[in-house]
Amino acid sequence: MSTKKKIILGVTGGIAAYKSADLCSKLTAEGYDVHVIMTFSAQKLMTERCFQTLSRNPVICSLWDVPEWKPEHIELSANAHLLVVAPCTANFIGKFTHGIADDALTTTALAFAGTVLLAPAMNTRMWNATAVQENCRILRDRGVGFIGPETGRLACGDDGTGRMSEVSTIISTIKNLLPPR
Ligand SMILES: Cc1cc2nc3c(=O)[nH]c(=O)nc-3n(C[C@H](O)[C@H](O)[C@H](O)COP(=O)(O)O)c2cc1C
Repeated sequence: MSTKKKIILGVTGGIAAYKSADLCSKLTAEGYDVHVIMTFSAQKLMTERCFQTLSRNPVICSLWDVPEWKPEHIELSANAHLLVVAPCTANFIGKFTHGIADDALTTTALAFAGTVLLAPAMNTRMWNATAVQENCRILRDRGVGFIGPETGRLACGDDGTGRMSEVSTIISTIKNLLPPR
């Protein structure tokens, strides 16, 4: 049995999803056992094969595409040390705040009792929306960790808060919380 620390990397449908391929690759190189769950929207931006290759593990893309009798999201949520969602959309924040479990990632997140880290990435106006800010406050009060977002140039061309934190920042936060060995 692997003694590696197991991380669930949730990838949601933000344009910064391309950076999470680098995050996945570097976490794997650091010695973590990385298990990626992609939302439907994330699969519009990035491929399952990319994360499968970089993590050297199967990628969960659906709740219903299950090879074993025991659903993978239950197995993973019971055994993982950390759940990191990067990039984390406004939609995921809303669903996670309110206990909605309508896909593999939100269902796993709800079943997971360990440390959760979110790296939000979205347009500044979405980030500043009252609903998003209130949801983040609720999640912080529940002990959910936030990495960023940072201020700078956004993919949509605007300047403002909403950039996903640098991969190096996310990795150092993870290593502080959960050293790889
Ligand atoms: C090209 C494109 C880029 C997007 N980028 C973001 C983003 O950076 N952040 C965000 O919160 N939503 C973004 N969205 C909207 C989300 O994809 C949408 O809210 C979706 O329902 C998110 O689903 P998920 O949270 O299940 O991945 C983007 C949509 C498109 C079409």
